Amino acid sequence: MAVLITGIGELTTNDPELGRLGEAAMVLEGGAVAWVGPAGQAPEADERVDVGGRAVLPGWVDSHTHLVFAGDRTAEFEARMAGKPYAAGGIAITVEATRAASDEQLAANLGRHLDEAARQGTTCLETKTGYGLTVTDEERSAKLAGPVADEVTYLGAHLVPPGADAESYVDLVCGEMLDAVAPHVRWADVFCETGAFDEAQSARVLTAAAKRGLGLRVHGNQLGEGPGVRLAVEHGAASVDHCTYLTDADVAALASSGTVATLLPACDLSTRQPLAPARRLLDAGATVALASNANPGSSYTTSMAFCVATAVLQMRMTVDEAVWAATAGGARALRRDDVGYLRPGARADVHVLDAPSTTHLAYRPGVPLTQAVWRKGERMR
Ligand code: NIG
Repeated sequence: MAVLITGIGELTTNDPELGRLGEAAMVLEGGAVAWVGPAGQAPEADERVDVGGRAVLPGWVDSHTHLVFAGDRTAEFEARMAGKPYAAGGIAITVEATRAASDEQLAANLGRHLDEAARQGTTCLETKTGYGLTVTDEERSAKLAGPVADEVTYLGAHLVPPGADAESYVDLVCGEMLDAVAPHVRWADVFCETGAFDEAQSARVLTAAAKRGLGLRVHGNQLGEGPGVRLAVEHGAASVDHCTYLTDADVAALASSGTVATLLPACDLSTRQPLAPARRLLDAGATVALASNANPGSSYTTSMAFCVATAVLQMRMTVDEAVWAATAGGARALRRDDVGYLRPGARADVHVLDAPSTTHLAYRPGVPLTQAVWRKGERMR
């Protein structure tokens, strides 16, 4: 069945040739975009939806979340707001709660957060393991995420479990745990940071995962300058995420690489870190993505609109840069070109704002502007 969406006041396609269209229409058919063009030239369709002059853009591509978890870290957040610094150690609290939860509880919590994201216009989402940290619990997390998330990442190298020996744990992550989880995921990630995994350990994880055929991602430069960005670029990672503390050499390395710098502004705010240097990266020519980093510790939000508003209001990204980073940029970080665009052949992931332009995402921060969402051509709201 073909659906004609017409009355589009402003259509953001992210396609360099189509650009941004006014008074536009589009046809969705078979889960894909079948046609895009001026409203006056729209073909006939089985169903017609008039969006009344509203802005339409691709659904958000949230390329960094940690949603296979149980438990709550409100107390840690409150302590942080009272002045206690964020440290990776809080991950262990979620690991304990996640291990204790049943499959049903974990699946229900994951589903609830995925629904929450979808209601706000997220139509493609990556999520990770990383709160299991045993062979069984990491495999279980990957298996629960596989059927419901667009992309799943193995993050056995999230934290050395309390009481474990770091080198032996890295052996496990690169050996038996990798063997168990790899069939269920496309990506592997490592938290390369003081208090998590050092450069040599991170390099071992990336090398083992690449050998197993997984794509690479890195958590890097979140809490201070360090080797994460350099390592990600050297290993050809698709993305290095956080990038809060960057040297000029890091920026230059990213600019001359195919590695996307994925910035996580909600996390920087929630952990009271400086906001990542988006302007330096963009001005140097690096590819920038924005993602929510939804997780119970450092960034408990699924709102991509909040990330876009923060990027514009506080990180000096233009509205167009921020919207691109949260759609096509996320797609680039996941090495996909079927999402993040509205052009013929793209997945029919459509986000209608209750606003005449995407500028309202920053102009009206905090206002829930999602009016309608289609995912794979299916109306979600
Ligand atoms: O991306 N930095 C490492 N991992 C998560 C935090 C997870 C947590 O605190 O539970 C992040 O911020």
